[in-house]
Formats: sequence, C-alpha cells, structure tokens
Amino acid sequence: MSERPDFEPSTLAIHTNRAYEYQSNSILFPIHLTATYIHESVGVTKGYGYSRGANPTVNALEQAISALEGTEHALCFRSGMGAISTLCLALLKAGDHVILSEVIYGGTVRLFQQVLKNFAIEFDFVDTAKPEAVEKAIKPNTRLIFIETPANPTLRLSDVKALAEIAHSHENILLAVDNTFLTPLLQNVLELGADISMLSTTKYIDGHNATIGGSLATHNEEITERLRFIRKVLGTIASPMDSWLTLQGIKTLPARLAIHCQHAQQVAEWLEAHPRVERVYYPGLDSFPQKALAEKQQKGFGGMLAFELKASTEESLKFINSLKLCTCAESLGSVETLITNPATASHCDIPLEIREKLGVTDRLIRLSVGLESPKDLIKDFEQAFTVVFGSAR
Ligand SMILES: Cc1ncc(COP(=O)(O)O)c(C=O)c1O
Repeated sequence: MSERPDFEPSTLAIHTNRAYEYQSNSILFPIHLTATYIHESVGVTKGYGYSRGANPTVNALEQAISALEGTEHALCFRSGMGAISTLCLALLKAGDHVILSEVIYGGTVRLFQQVLKNFAIEFDFVDTAKPEAVEKAIKPNTRLIFIETPANPTLRLSDVKALAEIAHSHENILLAVDNTFLTPLLQNVLELGADISMLSTTKYIDGHNATIGGSLATHNEEITERLRFIRKVLGTIASPMDSWLTLQGIKTLPARLAIHCQHAQQVAEWLEAHPRVERVYYPGLDSFPQKALAEKQQKGFGGMLAFELKASTEESLKFINSLKLCTCAESLGSVETLITNPATASHCDIPLEIREKLGVTDRLIRLSVGLESPKDLIKDFEQAFTVVFGSAR
C-alpha cells in the first residue's frame, strides 16, 4: 500500500483509493470480477494469484477500512459471521477457553453453542460490563476475550481499555471487540487497546442494505497473516461486487453517522417522555446507567436504541406491525429506519430465562434510527400508538 496521506477520517473515507485505474482514469475503483490472474511467467504474478486469496477490489475496501481503523492491517470477509468464524478458527484450538459478553449478537451465541462446542472450544458468557467479573472468569486456558460494546440489543457497554489491561496482564490472552454498532469513527477500539476490531460491514459501513460483509483489523502483522491464511483455507473472503458496493457506502459513513446520532438522540428523548413507554435504552440519555462510560470511550452515542412499552408482548408486537414508515426487518445501520423484536429475530435461539435476565425480554423493541426526518418517525409512532391504544399518547 502506498503511504497514507495525513487526512481526517471523513477525507480518508472518500480518498483512500486514489492511485488506481490506469486504463481509463475512472473516478471509481473498478470491480475486478475475476477468479484468477495471469502469470507473467510460471510463478510470477503481480501479487494476485486466485480470488479466494486476494482480489484488488476487496483490497481497495480493506485499505479504506484500515484507514478508518487507523492501522495498516484490515481484512474483509463474506459476512460479519464469516469474520468471527475465521477469527475463532485462526486463533483457537481444542481445549482453549473464550470469555464472551453475555449480551451479544445471537449469531455469535449460535457459533459458540452449536458449532465451536463440537470442536472442544470452552467458553463462558460473562457480564463484561464488570471488569472484575472478567478477571474472575479467566482460566489458565483462556486465549480470547470477545466482547460486543455497545451490545446487541440492550446497548450494555463494556470498558474496552480496562478489559485490554486485564487481557494483557495475562500471557497469551487477546481482546477482540465487535464494534459493529459504532464503527471506528465513533469508537476506535484499537486505540483503546483492543487487539482486534471486528465489524459487520453489512450495517453502518455499507449503510444501504446492499451487501452482507465483515472485517477484522489489528495492529499485529502476525495475526493478520494467520487470519489471511485461514480466510483463504476456508474461502471466507468478501466478494468483489459486494466490496465495490461497500466502497461506495463507506464514503458517506462520516456524514451518515453524524445524522444517525442526532436523530437517535431526538427519537430516544421523545420516546422516554412518552407516557406509554416504560424504558428506553440509549447511551445518550441521562437515565442510561453507563452514560459516563459512553462519554469516556465513544465519540458519539450511535444510532441504535431499544425500548419497552407499558404494554403486553402482544400489544408491543401489534405496535411494531402498525408502523408504516419504520420497516420491520432484521439488520441495522442503514439509511432506512429498521425495527425488530430481538426475542423473535436476532436472539430467538436464546432461552427465555436467560434472555429475561439480560433484559432481552419478549416485548423489547430494537430500533435502528435511519436518516428520515425524526418528525416523520415520531408521526409514525403516534399513528401506531393510536392503532394499539386508541390515542397517540
Ligand atoms: C453486532 C453484530 N455482530 C455481528 C453480526 C453478524 O454480521 P453479518 O450479519 O454481517 O454476518 C451482526 C448481525 O446482525 C451484529 O448485529
């Protein structure tokens, strides 16, 4: 990679891949839809051999993501789960132990409980918001602490710096952070001391619901090469087409995030003041118990929030079904406002008693606040309240 200019992240998001297309000078980096690359003579290539190993368009996205992460090393994957699976298979072996945030994306729970368990990987779900609980959970065979902060869906926060210090005070323990909810622009976990930053690029990085993808970034060259090797072995590399689409999305990420944060704050405050709303989870609210930690490690409160109505599960689901502008769909981080019921979607495989303990109740509603006018979102909530309860308030 040529030397990265000393620009602000919003500039790097647009201009990381400037030196590229020599045939036409097209302003956009081309999509290299190719399986293989011509050898100039036997064994002599221009650095690309086969697209399961590397591809120029995927590499262009990797350069953009590494610029935002503030590192030289980022790799892109076919999905966020492809990134997490590759990470686990690259760093762990039978008999190793992993500490996971107890509030975490349901797919990560599935990976450990229904797949990695069969390969003798040990794991414990811990309240990683409490550093002392993490310290206590460490075993002689612990190799990885994998946290999500803010966590999906209750926004529970973990102190990245404190956990990095704990991990590094032991030999051979790495800290990986799923930073999907904020992206490195709102929370740079590598700067905070984590060894690996993981993103589902499906969400804010793409931002338009056009692709499924994931990334891993680290300052550690040895880990990068191990991840690159396992990605090639497993075939979990991102596709050129998806990488190209994601490259277009990433250019507007700084602008989109600023609006997501602003709109989410407005909607969270409105919901909190509404008489039919029991509680709102949003780090930008004074009522959020970990607001101080959010202010310490985040550069913004993000676009995600969750809430519960003063209502039964049936009424809560009817409220979701009555919305006309907010779209009921899995995923988050896109220009469209998306609303889900985690208990029946992302966290459906987690038993009720565990979900309730974590705050992921049957009636919890998760909202990914998009770029529509908050006025229109609020009007939509008011008409849904009217359908369910007979009045807007
Ligand atoms: C926090 C978080 N991490 C990881 C993933 C998995 O990403 P993907 O759907 O791109 O595989 C998701 C998906 O919803 C997520 O919300």
